[in-house]
Amino acid sequence: VPKGSMNRVAMNGSNLMKEHRENKMLRKKEIEQQIRKKQAMGELGDNPEDRKVDLSDLRQQLVITAWERNRMREPIAFGRKTSMPISSQRKSLPVYQMKDALMKAVRENQFLIIVGETGSGKTTQITQYLNDEGFSDGGIIGCTQPRRVAAVSVSKRVAEEIGCKLGDEVGYTIRFEDMTSAKTRIKYMTDGMLQREALLDPTMSKYSVIMLDEAHERTVATDVLFALLKQAAKKRPDLKVIVTSATLDSAKFSEYFCGCPVINIPGKTFPVEVLYSQTPQMDYIESALDTVVEIHVNEGPGDILVFLTGQDEIDSCCEVLYQRVKTLGDSIGELLILPVYSALPSEIQSKIFEPTPEGSRKVVFATNIAETSITINGIYYVIDPGFAKVNTFNPRVGMEQLVVSPISQAQANQRKGRAGRTGPGKCYRLYTESAFYNEMLPNTIPEIQRQNLSLTILMLKAMGINDLIHFEFMDPPPKNLLMKALEELFNLQALDDDGLLTKLGMRMSQFPMEPTLARALLASVTNNCSEDIIIVISMLSVQNVFYRPKGKEQEADNKKARFHHPYGDHLTLLNVYKRWQQANCTEQFCTLNFLQSRHLKRARDVRNQLMAIFSRFKLPIVSCHGDPSIIRETLVSGFFFNAAKRDSQVGYKTLTGGTAVGIHPSSSLYGKEYEYVMYHSLVLTSREYMSQVTAIDPKWLIKAAPHFYKITDEESQSRKKAKIVPLHNRYSKDQNSWKLSSIRQSREKA
Ligand code: CDP
Ligand code: MG
Repeated sequence: VPKGSMNRVAMNGSNLMKEHRENKMLRKKEIEQQIRKKQAMGELGDNPEDRKVDLSDLRQQLVITAWERNRMREPIAFGRKTSMPISSQRKSLPVYQMKDALMKAVRENQFLIIVGETGSGKTTQITQYLNDEGFSDGGIIGCTQPRRVAAVSVSKRVAEEIGCKLGDEVGYTIRFEDMTSAKTRIKYMTDGMLQREALLDPTMSKYSVIMLDEAHERTVATDVLFALLKQAAKKRPDLKVIVTSATLDSAKFSEYFCGCPVINIPGKTFPVEVLYSQTPQMDYIESALDTVVEIHVNEGPGDILVFLTGQDEIDSCCEVLYQRVKTLGDSIGELLILPVYSALPSEIQSKIFEPTPEGSRKVVFATNIAETSITINGIYYVIDPGFAKVNTFNPRVGMEQLVVSPISQAQANQRKGRAGRTGPGKCYRLYTESAFYNEMLPNTIPEIQRQNLSLTILMLKAMGINDLIHFEFMDPPPKNLLMKALEELFNLQALDDDGLLTKLGMRMSQFPMEPTLARALLASVTNNCSEDIIIVISMLSVQNVFYRPKGKEQEADNKKARFHHPYGDHLTLLNVYKRWQQANCTEQFCTLNFLQSRHLKRARDVRNQLMAIFSRFKLPIVSCHGDPSIIRETLVSGFFFNAAKRDSQVGYKTLTGGTAVGIHPSSSLYGKEYEYVMYHSLVLTSREYMSQVTAIDPKWLIKAAPHFYKITDEESQSRKKAKIVPLHNRYSKDQNSWKLSSIRQSREKA
């Protein structure tokens, strides 16, 4: 287990985490049972005379009396679509007061740090000011966002403000989607896209100004861009770099960027009262729902924002709350329930920006996307359970996983701030004050210190940056993560013995995806099955295409089973895509088969993009007509790390870590007993599950990675049996075989 920050998180959050895990499984059932019980006993809803509704007998007794409208506050003007014209709206933003000072500072400095509260207008306004000042005459004004959704929604908003068609003067670029044209002057994009552009154009010659927005999120790509832009700026005195953020250690940033000035945008915020839970909450979902109802019934007008960790949680909360509210009767104002997460279609997402109708209240269940990336007007109440899902490298299973973890104090304060934008608000923290001070870290750990870095390192290597020690990271990644990434790239044959990029590695870096996926794509060229593998990989890159609506689970499962391939999920996905295509991609086919047409269409976009990359590099697109052996063997070329062997006691054990894992119940291999399987990812629920599982021949592992696996003889029931085990890690065994061992030495000295 690596030392350092990861451990600290694990330890500091252990109590919170334990509670969370223990309750996650029971939660949903329990809530539903309670509601059913109450309905059966006639306690809920039916009698409109009786305004006394007892909602939670588990903990506090919440007795609802009358709905006291305007008990505390004056009526509020809701939403952004007011009668106020866009120009006045723009002038009312805090950043507007600073316009001249900002433009002067940009003209006079190459680097500039801008700090301002979320919602002050940094993202939507500063690019427009720069455009008005003529900065776009010498190149594009680029603005990066850590999240795809933000890049899209913000560019739409700015196009609307300027009054142009999206893709003309204002556009966006996200992976597999380019909404820009030759006319584009203001371009929003994900930080990952700009990092990718640096591969071909290290001096960023297309841009006159680059604004690294939401820098406090400290994504890997933004952190790498800090260093790349610092280098580019040296070669291009005319390039302007602006770093903007909601909350950030501005002194540290200024020091990093050559002591550049920091401009603070004075916020227009109101005080927010913080209410801590008196006791630790056993189940944050249940507590959040109780709190929503309590606010809705007892508090004055104002919308509610609840932070949850992910899509499943948000969807089930919306459902449960909807059922509960129905039972409250008509005397209580209407409650509009809205979900927000990145996978949501944009039509539904834009609903959250619509003003709440008079007399009703809105409750938004959101992931931490609403912490800083998206601003919803009219929020007076924030409910913060204290958790978020973070992508973290899990040393135990040797891969990155989305894990529900406690947030930092800085994040908690950011969440709190969301309640004070329109007037004085309230923030309900569903944890104790002591947990806040003693269990939460002051600041969030930058992603670069906890994520899988193989993609990043591959790109840096492809830019010719071999010396990772002297690469100017603001916070360098810990040694073990760096080693792990180098090792993975070596095993994928992207790096040679000296840690230098191979020809294959160069090719891999040209695909905008994880090295494992890129490796499988390139193996498909050799194995003459690129057409098939492109489809499988496109399907793996999108959200689950199977739809399992409530009450129709069995019917949906039956339909899904018709697509099942006996060898597993990768081939099942290929089946689905091909059948959808044969059916002319109709909506009807999707409805009939319980498929999500939106996700299939996205898979088609990804496929088209990959085909375009293939033709750009003159790689042949050939089909093996679905030959299951060729396809599986090709996938193993990239995914040999993710292999597991059957184990009579625990189901399966991973080959690399010996971790006990099971086949996920949604897999087409569920209940089947193949000796060796590969998986796309591990999901952690009550136990570790393999998701997207396919049966493989172990010989393929040796063939794909002779330097990684070997065959050993194992005494088994008095019969010699060949067993495949990973070879020892070259890195730790033979330090000198790697030129990069100097990294280790310099770190040790430090
Ligand atoms: O970047 P920052 O958080 O400082 O603010 P912004 O994103 O530029 O937002 C400024 C204002 O524009 C806020 O009041 C948002 O509610 C509004 N906005 C919007 O109505 N629709 C969007 N898609 C983005 C922003
Ligand atoms: Mg912003």
